[in-house]
Amino acid sequence: MIREITILPGFDKDGSREGFNELNLKAGETVSIVGPTGSGKTALISDIELLAQGDTATKRKVLINGTVPDEQTRYNPALKPIAMITQNTKCFADLTVVEFLEIHARARKIENDSIIEETIVLANNFTGEKIYAGNRVTTLSGGQTRSLLIADAILIGAAPIILLDEIENAGIFKQEVIELIVDSGKVIVFVTHDPVIALHTDRRIIMENGAIKGILGRDESEIHVAQNLIILDQRIGAIREELRAGKVISNELALLNLA
Ligand SMILES: Nc1ncnc2c1ncn2[C@@H]1O[C@H](COP(=O)(O)OP(=O)(O)O)[C@@H](O)[C@H]1O
Ligand SMILES: [Mg+2]
Repeated sequence: MIREITILPGFDKDGSREGFNELNLKAGETVSIVGPTGSGKTALISDIELLAQGDTATKRKVLINGTVPDEQTRYNPALKPIAMITQNTKCFADLTVVEFLEIHARARKIENDSIIEETIVLANNFTGEKIYAGNRVTTLSGGQTRSLLIADAILIGAAPIILLDEIENAGIFKQEVIELIVDSGKVIVFVTHDPVIALHTDRRIIMENGAIKGILGRDESEIHVAQNLIILDQRIGAIREELRAGKVISNELALLNLA
């Protein structure tokens, strides 16, 4: 059981020690990592992914439930408590969507047969490009692949820690992702440039020059802004889908979709 992971400070790109004591991420908590390109966001989640022990560029250490994870946890993929999904994540196996999910469910010793269908339904909640059971995973688009892998990580994968590196930029419906994973009881970390996602997480980690520069919680006004942003974002999303379908966006149509 993973109750929390702890990140112990390392060094920024100039070799100065990071200015926090320790950062604890608890099960059920969502966190976003924000900061300019090159500021070390991917390096930070990679440290979590690798369960770094001072052996990465940043020299950070990552603990599970307050202790150093054993070698098995670090290096045995079957025991690894972490799922990381990036823009470059691809499925390489020459399998259909169903075969891919079945193999994973079997590896996880999940008996429930309906889990495969549920996972495909959930994945289709995240993407406008429909995923079919018989599609070959190698032919899925970037957005479809990420949607499938997120659904798989939530329903089939046992990983209590999910790391998502800038998943917003390719055909993913983020409201759905946010709604469905915030209650998952997992530690979920989003690297994101997207204000909707950043404002929906419990805390924000601010990166600069390879270091964690700040950790912010949300106050009432940000929660309010986040709610308004979702509505705005859904409007933009609706228009995006119309455009993708080749439609002309009249004022009237735009208004209809604003409801
Ligand atoms: N603390 C650090 N010390 C040394 N190198 C770092 C550190 N943090 C990041 N880097 C390196 O800087 C580069 C950019 O970092 P990256 O994590 O990819 O930035 P981002 O994801 O924010 O765009 C990478 O090559 C990374 O390995
Ligand atoms: Mg990055």
